[in-house]
Amino acid sequence: MSAHRDPSRADAREELLARIESDLAAQLSSKPRRLAHSRSVADTAERLAMAYGVDPFLARCAGLLHDWEKAASGVEQEARARELGIDMGVDLSLVRPLLHGIIAARALPARYPELPDEVWHAIETHTVAAADMGPLDEVLFVADGIEPLRPPSPGIERVRSLVGEATLDDLFWESFVGGVVYVVEGGRYLYPGTVDVYNALAARRAADRA
Ligand SMILES: [Fe+2]
Repeated sequence: MSAHRDPSRADAREELLARIESDLAAQLSSKPRRLAHSRSVADTAERLAMAYGVDPFLARCAGLLHDWEKAASGVEQEARARELGIDMGVDLSLVRPLLHGIIAARALPARYPELPDEVWHAIETHTVAAADMGPLDEVLFVADGIEPLRPPSPGIERVRSLVGEATLDDLFWESFVGGVVYVVEGGRYLYPGTVDVYNALAARRAADRA
């Protein structure tokens, strides 16, 4: 019997999760509600991942880290996005709520090189979505929208009731459309990129039904 035992994959994953959880507690120490939301998204993403055949470890990591950049104010995020040369095709002051995912996807890979690109893509698309959402992207997007600390609305309750019943694509679609309706009903600025994603998804869904 060998005296050596390489850390198993499970051990390495546990260690990385513990490091991310302690880093996150420090990063969001002045924002306890944001920290609680991040942990709740991680739990929800892990549960959705298990229900839909997605890697629950990656879902948990993405959930924990998705709002990392929200430690900064909207003004600071806008300044950081300008520094990074992020181009959204519109004035960045209009899309401040969308920037944190994109900034995190650029900044965090250097800190956690162990994590695959899938995690960063999920974090990048959790606010803006994309026409080519993969399963982990969809899991994070939905988890962010329905985590149990989010106050219920008819749209959120509907998505919650569909978990395990609808396909992951359909669950994401319902959650995405609910987000668009929320923006429009509130008279908020609707990012043109979101309209493009909506139209691409709607066209694909119509073609799939034909
Ligand atoms: Fe979030």
